[in-house]
Amino acid sequence: MCGVVGFIGSENTAEILFNGLKTLEYRGYDSAGLALCQNNSFHILKAVGKLENLLREMQKNTSLDATMGIGHIRWATHGAPSLANAHPHISNDGKTVLVHNGIIENYKELKADLSAKGYRFSSDTDTEVAVVQIEDELKSAASFPQAVRQAMQKFRGAFAFLIMNKDNPQMLVAAKRNAPLLVGRGEKGMMAASDVPALAGHVSKFAYLDDDELALLSPQGMVFQNAQGSVFTKPLQVLSLSQEALSKNGFDHFMLKEINEQPAIVRSLLQRFLVQGKIVMPSFNLSAQEIENLTKIEIVACGTSLHAATVGKYVIEELADIPVEVEAASEYIYRKHPKNNNILLIGVSQSGETADTISAVKLAKQRGAHVLVLTNREDSSLVRFADSVLGLNAGLEISVAATKSYTAQLMMFYLLALYLTQERKTQQHDVLQKLQKNLMAVPVQMEEILADTKSVQRCAEKYAKAQDFIYVSRGVNVATALEGALKLKEISYINANAYPAGELKHGPIALLDEKMPVLSVLMPGSPNYDKLLSNSQEAKARHARLIAVTSARDKNLKSLFDDVLQVPEVPEILSPLTANIPLQLLAYFMANKLGRDVDKPRNLAKSVTVE
Ligand code: G6P
Repeated sequence: MCGVVGFIGSENTAEILFNGLKTLEYRGYDSAGLALCQNNSFHILKAVGKLENLLREMQKNTSLDATMGIGHIRWATHGAPSLANAHPHISNDGKTVLVHNGIIENYKELKADLSAKGYRFSSDTDTEVAVVQIEDELKSAASFPQAVRQAMQKFRGAFAFLIMNKDNPQMLVAAKRNAPLLVGRGEKGMMAASDVPALAGHVSKFAYLDDDELALLSPQGMVFQNAQGSVFTKPLQVLSLSQEALSKNGFDHFMLKEINEQPAIVRSLLQRFLVQGKIVMPSFNLSAQEIENLTKIEIVACGTSLHAATVGKYVIEELADIPVEVEAASEYIYRKHPKNNNILLIGVSQSGETADTISAVKLAKQRGAHVLVLTNREDSSLVRFADSVLGLNAGLEISVAATKSYTAQLMMFYLLALYLTQERKTQQHDVLQKLQKNLMAVPVQMEEILADTKSVQRCAEKYAKAQDFIYVSRGVNVATALEGALKLKEISYINANAYPAGELKHGPIALLDEKMPVLSVLMPGSPNYDKLLSNSQEAKARHARLIAVTSARDKNLKSLFDDVLQVPEVPEILSPLTANIPLQLLAYFMANKLGRDVDKPRNLAKSVTVE
């Protein structure tokens, strides 16, 4: 989604802004732009496509030496990616310029009113309406910040704004509602941005703005104002993001680096929650009695997080014996929910900024559910609606395709299921002890998979030219198949669909021929294994090329499957943790082989802040 960055101070503003935008690239975008204020005039540079195109524009203007500026990467919502729609947007009188992340929902009404007053618009965006509205408010307001506040009262929706005004050359205004915005203080100046990485290296202390707050940045410092214009102080926190988190650390891509971080993440989650043979969850604010009384758990999420939720449902129902419903957050919001007390609603989101998930969580809260949030960003908007929070602590995930956050979510669901089971006493003590022991072995097993990826690479080379792919599994690994297919689609653009294997014969089998690879995730130790073998036979009989991801050491598999990707042996219920890694790697190697932009796939955004 869009990202904003602003700087006011004594350093080379253009470079700081550009580098800041680079760190926000992970959010996904399709055009970019900068506005630089130099000698009281604005220079606006824009480019469609990657930031390199903006850099070329900047190189044509090397004489620019601004001390204040704002930058933006845009993920098109209102209007195609084009120069006219790219930010920054400027007011009709050329005096106010603005960048925006979010959506002004009532922009059509505002645009009609402003048009009736004689204002003109040159883009299709809601953002241009915002800057023109501020221009109009400046006619009656006593100051630039007051005009911004007046305009904000008229906006509905989400916004993180950075705004400059020619008559106020020593002031950069930052303001927000329902979209993240941070401001920071550095030695060379003050900065504002959508996310922490953009501030790293320039800022030593920072603060998150809350909704309807303004920060007025000057070269010397910052002043905070609330919606009424009253000045207040805000505590700043130390910025501690390491350079390592922002670097690829020797890997070719962030995605590969993040895949390799997974064993350490699982290990640290185990250390955090498993204390002397017991699961300890102090931040889960439900008493043993309330847990006992739970009649239902609902889980809402999107994308990869939705697949983690699907594993969560399976494991909680299996162990803790509570009915669990999993639903795409975008669907949950738009249907009737029969009255039901004693519900736990779990919102799962890597970023904590996904608009659909936030709306679903808000709705559940209104219905009186206890809201538990599982997120990798404990500083995110979603957390504000939570009664309990379980932080994934997977570290900053930069690759758009989620990998390590998925594994952290899975692990958190296993820990949560064990915790609920322990509190509800639905399993024998030794069953829990055995599962805990098996979980403790997982990090090493993941390391084994990552230590030798040659067979996955060979497989990727062999199938990279496939137009379509089918992934199948049964039981808990249906989610693994769904997530594997999603990963392949996201970064290689190969059409990949996943099904419960039993569904293959109810339609998808019509697609099978010698060109179609069918990947099966099959783990021994349950009836699913034999059933999956039968389903694979059925696919083989239609000449499909078969790939297996399995922990079985069965030699006969070689005669049925064209390729076998071996994973270490774990109980089937835990196998989503290990089986997923070859699938992440397969997608990665195939996308790489096809020359795709692995970390920044086309059209995708890391966090989708629109419904
Ligand atoms: C976007 C990303 C996906 C992600 C989904 C949910 O679509 O491209 O990778 O899974 O949002 O994101 P969240 O941050 O809520 O987990």
